[in-house]
Amino acid sequence: VFGKKVLMLKEDILKILKSDGGYISGEDICSRCHVSRTAVWKAVKRLKEEGYQIDAVRNRGYRLLPGTDVLNNAEIGAVLSGIPFLKEFRFFPTIDSTNKAAKLLAEEGSSGPALVVADEQTAGRGRRGRTWISPPGTGIWMSILLRPDLPAEKSSMITLVSALAVTEGIREVTGVACGIKWPNDIVADGRKICGILTEMSTDMDGISYIVTGIGINANTEEFPPEIAAVASSLKIETGKTVQRVKIIGAVMRKFAVYYEKFVRDGSFQGLKDLYEEYLVNQGREVAVLDPKGEYRGVAEGISDDGELLVRTEDGSVHTVLSGEVSVRGIYSYT
Ligand code: BTN
Repeated sequence: VFGKKVLMLKEDILKILKSDGGYISGEDICSRCHVSRTAVWKAVKRLKEEGYQIDAVRNRGYRLLPGTDVLNNAEIGAVLSGIPFLKEFRFFPTIDSTNKAAKLLAEEGSSGPALVVADEQTAGRGRRGRTWISPPGTGIWMSILLRPDLPAEKSSMITLVSALAVTEGIREVTGVACGIKWPNDIVADGRKICGILTEMSTDMDGISYIVTGIGINANTEEFPPEIAAVASSLKIETGKTVQRVKIIGAVMRKFAVYYEKFVRDGSFQGLKDLYEEYLVNQGREVAVLDPKGEYRGVAEGISDDGELLVRTEDGSVHTVLSGEVSVRGIYSYT
């Protein structure tokens, strides 16, 4: 009983602190929560231990600092509660990989859409078998489990849907003018701030499930030297701590809208123009690292199926399928 009381008090105090940007006196909190000063003090102490940065000043009271960025079950549950699209979510302080956890959910019979979020990944995975560095307290490591009724060849387009949702979600919350490097890297100022890894499992009827994993460098302050030139984070771009939970909410709201449209249409065609608005390769010279031979050309946009259209010098237009080849800018990473 006592534990539950503290929990409720903590939630109440958080609500009060969040609803007001300034200082609130201990007395005020006491009278609003009908508890003693000591009880308030204890609850605040617990909140601080959980990562909430609460400033306590004698004669003024308590204040939640704007630099607070806490990821936990309650925070994520609160932002997702307004998104009926999601049927389930799981939060892990630490896990090997959220993609792996989402696949397990699917194997256990979850019908999705479900979201798995972790504060830290110990074996985060990137594309082409690379590892994805996922330290605690800084990034958004999350995976969406989906079971669309679509032919398997459409699955790669889910990645484009994710890229669209992430770009708009980040723009909405942080104002960072990020764009998409085809097919699914999100870049800001020419450096990567997000990667997406989409994996699929098929059975005799087609797609059994799809997991689209999103890794956003949110409050990362520094990168290892080998990627420092090509990687960035929202904190580096804005100079401020971003609240990861807000970005998760915004990205998921966008994802729900675009994914539902994509599945309803059975095609990416209706989202193509929007995607191209954010496409940083658009009109730029790219090198296509085709295993059959590298070539260069100008990226002209994407096809209705999400392939990159590249016009080469002889005037012919090549369609580049995602996953098959990698595309680089001529002068830089983008
Ligand atoms: C890339 O190589 O660009 C793709 C990186 C994808 C990383 C995300 S983080 C959440 C999810 N879980 C993983 O293990 N990988 C993806």
